[in-house]
Amino acid sequence: MTTHPLLDGPNFAERDPHCFWKELEGFPSQCWAAQDLTLSRSQTPATPGEVRQIVILGMGGSAAGGDLLRAYMAGRLPIPIQISRGDGLPAGLGPETLLVAVSYSGNTEETLTALADALPKSPMAFVVTTGGTLAALVERQGLPGILVPSGLMPRSALGFLFFSLLKILDAKGIMPFPKEDVAEALPLVEQLAAGFGPARPIRDNEAKRLAVALEPRIPVVYGGPTTAMPAYRWKTQIEENAKRLALSGVLPELNHNEVEGWADSEARRFHIVFLRDRGEGDRLARRMAVTRDLLLRRVGDVSEVWSRGEGLLARLLSLIVLGDWVSYYLASLRGVDPWTIPAIDELKQRLRIAP
Ligand code: PA5
Repeated sequence: MTTHPLLDGPNFAERDPHCFWKELEGFPSQCWAAQDLTLSRSQTPATPGEVRQIVILGMGGSAAGGDLLRAYMAGRLPIPIQISRGDGLPAGLGPETLLVAVSYSGNTEETLTALADALPKSPMAFVVTTGGTLAALVERQGLPGILVPSGLMPRSALGFLFFSLLKILDAKGIMPFPKEDVAEALPLVEQLAAGFGPARPIRDNEAKRLAVALEPRIPVVYGGPTTAMPAYRWKTQIEENAKRLALSGVLPELNHNEVEGWADSEARRFHIVFLRDRGEGDRLARRMAVTRDLLLRRVGDVSEVWSRGEGLLARLLSLIVLGDWVSYYLASLRGVDPWTIPAIDELKQRLRIAP
């Protein structure tokens, strides 16, 4: 197929009344702009042993920056990173916990509750937000934080949220800002945004081709330990942008449970995408190949996508950018507005009203 009647048609933008494509196309410049973000208060670097764990509080799109940080830091940091979703707190919070509350709106109920409960135990706390209650903590109560630009959907602000977390780690002397990885990753992200964007016809556009292949079925995105984060991001982006149910899973664990589920008589309704990575190693590569071979006979379709780039940051971002665009074109093919999130909005609205 050289062109697609919907994705390459002249009326393309009509199915995107809020011009959500501009948020995706602007992702590279957002990442560049994020390099200039600064903390509201200067920090004294932590002494050795002063920080024993990092806990990031956040929900939905605002948790994604923490997910990416944890995936990127895997094996690099001598201390664990936990992403805590919900109003409860993980065990073991204390003065040696570096706490970061991330909420793009600054008003997410679960994140605010968790932060309020955590602050007395873990005063080494930061926030990342655009406004709302969290910004008031920065502006009026002097909590250190990074105020990022507003105007995006939270899930589109991944660059601002992720690089803010790296800046906090740098300021606390936990990890120097990874300038070399960023210097490799961002030009690649720029190149990919152009290659997956609406102006590039389907014959040269992997994101459009994948969306067309996925559209008739329910997408399932499988990754390995490194690509688990992008796999989950694909799932949530497809759900929020395309309003389509999607699943994600991680090898090798799914080889020990989920793989049996594909004996289901409904299996043909699903399309599995395997996210592959040059760093996955021979054992995982063989596991992916055998799993794919086994499932090919059971599910509707199977695809494979490879990360691009050399460094881990570039590779992770390359898969994320592709998935974001796939979710966007899926929305277009399904005729839904990728920008609006009516069910999430209704939930927030109804939960705000006291019973
Ligand atoms: O993508 C979205 O809009 C949601 O997943 C939000 O990120 C989520 O509801 C939390 O809101 P906020 O990011 O403002 O904390």
